[in-house]
Amino acid sequence: MLPRWSMYIGCALPDQVQDDLAEAFDVTATDVPAPSDSLVLEALHGKQVLLTAVNTKLTPQFISALPDSVQAIATYSVGHEHIHLEAARERGLAVFNTPNVLTPSVAETAMLLLLGASRRGTESITLVRSRAWPGWSPRQLNGQEIWHKSLGIFGMGRIGRAIASLARAFGMTIHYSNRNRLSPELEQGAVFHADVADMLRVIDVLMIASPSTSSTKLFLNAERIRLLKPNAVVVNIGRGDLVVDDALVGALSRHEIFAAGLDVFNNEPNIDSRYFDLPNVFMLPHIGSSTVEARRRMGLVLRDGITAWRNGEKPPNRLV
Ligand code: DGY
Repeated sequence: MLPRWSMYIGCALPDQVQDDLAEAFDVTATDVPAPSDSLVLEALHGKQVLLTAVNTKLTPQFISALPDSVQAIATYSVGHEHIHLEAARERGLAVFNTPNVLTPSVAETAMLLLLGASRRGTESITLVRSRAWPGWSPRQLNGQEIWHKSLGIFGMGRIGRAIASLARAFGMTIHYSNRNRLSPELEQGAVFHADVADMLRVIDVLMIASPSTSSTKLFLNAERIRLLKPNAVVVNIGRGDLVVDDALVGALSRHEIFAAGLDVFNNEPNIDSRYFDLPNVFMLPHIGSSTVEARRRMGLVLRDGITAWRNGEKPPNRLV
């Protein structure tokens, strides 16, 4: 029987998740929403695991300052761009994330964004909550259907494919652009575009579902937006830095595209304030995976992954 490890939880987790982790580790949790690096480093003395999340940057400097006791880092997210994996590897740390388990929640949020943007959700909510709604009229808030439209998915990983399967229920035709073409079983009839520009020209909705990497950052720039149809809807469920805000804000304010649905932003939570003035933006505060069900699974997959690794197994959620 391996000795129990101590875990420092550097983000406030739901109670049930903390209880699940406490079954395998002696847990100490922060009570501040965003603890400073020095606070985290101090709290980690004598502990073996750091549990962290997307809003904490783990730079090479931070990683090299970790106490010697630390053996593993667990990020409470599927995205891991906030962790310098190479520095972790060099330091001999194991790093774990939460793939798979949040896919249904994120795919549902993608559909919420898609519908909210297409059906003028922001303006509708503002009007009905204003207590000054004049009542039904045929010209009021006419949106766009998504029924039988074309959806172009940039990033056809697990989340992209789950979005495709929900969108098929709306009769949408699926196009995708990905580093590699998928097998026919995974493609499920979706049309692959080796050149993303070819996809952008033919779709009604662009769904950005890719992680942030050096080759996807700043993907949606002015040049690519110009390829979209005039009534296109853009949805971003991936990461804020895939979008050039100047380009998207410009296109939305000039009505060169119909609307955008955004769950992720550059520089969260201090997002580009121009979005607040655009009624054709339907936006959410990065709640893609925020369901009771996904949150619980995220904790369990980290707990079980670290335990399996300690037992000499190769869990699929170990990044390095
Ligand atoms: C993820 O898991 O990467 C989400 O964006 C944060 O919950």
